[in-house]
Formats: sequence, C-alpha cells, structure tokens
Amino acid sequence: MRYIEFGTQKAKISEVVAGLMRINQMSVPELEVFVDTCLSEGINAFDLADIYGGGKCEALIGELLLKRPDLRGKMWIQSKCGIHTDGFNYFDFSKEHILASVDKILMRLQTDHLDSLLLHRPDALMEPEEVAEAFDILESSGKVLDFGVSNENPSQMALLRTCVKQPLAANQLQLSAAFTPALDEGFNVNMEIDAGIVRSAGTFEYCRLHDIVIQAWSSLQYGYFQGVFFGVPKYEKLNAKIDELAEKYGVTNTAVALAWILRYPGKTQAVIGTTKPERIREAARACDFTLTRKEWYEIYLAAGNRLP
Ligand SMILES: NC(=O)c1ccc[n+]([C@@H]2O[C@H](COP(=O)([O-])OP(=O)(O)OC[C@H]3O[C@@H](n4cnc5c(N)ncnc54)[C@H](OP(=O)(O)O)[C@@H]3O)[C@@H](O)[C@H]2O)c1
Repeated sequence: MRYIEFGTQKAKISEVVAGLMRINQMSVPELEVFVDTCLSEGINAFDLADIYGGGKCEALIGELLLKRPDLRGKMWIQSKCGIHTDGFNYFDFSKEHILASVDKILMRLQTDHLDSLLLHRPDALMEPEEVAEAFDILESSGKVLDFGVSNENPSQMALLRTCVKQPLAANQLQLSAAFTPALDEGFNVNMEIDAGIVRSAGTFEYCRLHDIVIQAWSSLQYGYFQGVFFGVPKYEKLNAKIDELAEKYGVTNTAVALAWILRYPGKTQAVIGTTKPERIREAARACDFTLTRKEWYEIYLAAGNRLP
C-alpha cells in the first residue's frame, strides 16, 4: 500500500479508500471480516456519509466498533453531511444542520470523533460564515479533526475559504477510467468540441494548487451509478487495454483501473465501493506498480476519448 499525509493531522492514510456506501445489507460478522481484510492489506481509510443506507452504514460500523474497540485506533474514519433526504434530496450547509448532523454521526458510529468531515454536495444557499462557525465549534470540541468538501468546483471552495480558517483537506469527486469530464476539459481548452465544455472549471488543478486531496468516488463506474465498466460492450476497447496491462503487471483489471486513477499527480485517492474481501485484496495491488505515462494515455484513449 502507498500512503498520503492528510490534513492538519498529517494522518498517514492509504491511497485506496474503503467506501462504505453499500454495506447496509452486511451482517456485523461479515463487516468484521471486511474491515480486517482492509487493514491487513494496509487500507486504513474508510469513507461514509450520514445518508448512506439512511444512517444504517454508520450504525453498522458503530456496532462493529462496540464489538471490537481495538479497531477504532486502526481505522481513519471520514463521513459527510449536508444533504437532507426527507421527500427529496436537498442541501443544507447551515451551522445548525452541520452541528446536529455530526452529533448524530458520532452517536451512530459510537465514537467521539471523526478523522475527517466532508460537506457532501454544494448548497447554493450556503453562508460561508455559518460553515466557519460550525467548523470552529467542531474543531475546538475535538469532534472533527479535519475538514473538506465533495463535488465542489474552485469557486465554491474559494467562497468557503474566505471564512473557514481550517484548510480544506479533501475534495471527493467522481472519477474513473470511464468517467473523465474534469480531465476532458483540460485537454481541450478553447476548442470548439463538446469535450472542451467546462464542467469542473479546473477543479483538479485547483486542488493541486491548494494541497487538497482528490478522492475519486465510484472509481470503477461509468455514468452516474450505471454500474462497473468491466464487461460492458460500450467499453470493449477500454477493457481490452486494461486486461492487457493487468497481464503485464500480474494483477487484475480492478488493480489497473485504480492504478490509472492513482497515477494522477498530487495527493490522489481512489474510493472503492466493493463489499467483497477478495475484491479488496485485488484493489490493494493497485499500489504495487505505477503505470507509465504512455499507458495512462492509452487507457484514456481506449475509453473513447480523443486528444487534440
Ligand atoms: N461524494 C460523493 O458524492 C459520493 C458518491 C458516490 C460514492 N461515494 C463514495 O465512493 C465509494 C465508492 O463508490 P461506488 O460504490 O459507486 O464505487 P465502485 O467501486 O465503482 O462500485 C462498487 C460496486 O461495484 C461492484 N463491483 C466492484 N468490482 C466489481 C467487479 N469486478 N465486477 C462486478 N461488480 C463489481 C461492487 O459490488 P461488490 O460489493 O459485489 O463487489 C459494488 O456494487 C462509496 O462507497 C462512497 O464511499 C461518494
């Protein structure tokens, strides 16, 4: 495994992150095997959100921590808040909502602190002063050690940074070999083609400029939760290239797909959503090798992209 230094705590956390959005059907004994497998592979970073499974994902981790208190010191735990799910999804970065959400998160997780808290999706009605007040309270009470955002563009982060005094440690963004709008716009600046349409406004570059960790979510999916791209006819060339490189490096397609994400410079993590211990072991191999520059571009092109 490879590690990055995260946030003000300089926590040494794994480049491969176990995303826990889909664990709500697991039993606690199954989850225990899953977490032990992650830790034995060197994966010590775990990602949650208050809305995952309507709170059940966090509650399951809480049950596991109650059963196995030894795990808390080994697990770096991140969660997210800022989305209401009552009736329809809408966003809330008010001080009151952030503070109440963290208290509920900690109660479900049966722990006294989060290693990292992300604001889940941008709230157009955000008042940065209110977020700053909430973060100060969470920091001084020791409830949250580091802070960040998710799915935010540079202007949204800059607006927050006008008031928030804690550094934004991470931005969690969708990225996979089959989902690259943030990269496409960078290759096609000032070009009259659709790939040049600005969708992220230089978000990745902004993160690198400000030492913000890029956490790639849905790192094996295409579209918006359309499924993993492995075996999908539309991505035949991509899969063929990934399989070829998997053979070369003696790993599985999972490891190559994640190595492609981790080849992006700066501090980059791949958040994976498997619930299977055997796939965790495959994913951890992504850190055993580094794709060449040419291989990285071959994968990008095999996904159906063009370069100028
Ligand atoms: N910030 C955000 O807005 C946001 C949004 C979405 C997700 N996330 C985070 O990112 C994490 C990962 O997202 P994700 O779950 O969509 O990621 P993912 O790893 O791309 O997808 C996981 C899903 O793919 C399946 N899968 C994995 N490998 C497979 C293979 N080789 N063949 C067939 N199926 C395979 C898994 O099934 P098995 O369990 O059977 O392996 C699981 O259902 C989440 O857990 C969450 O922490 C964040």
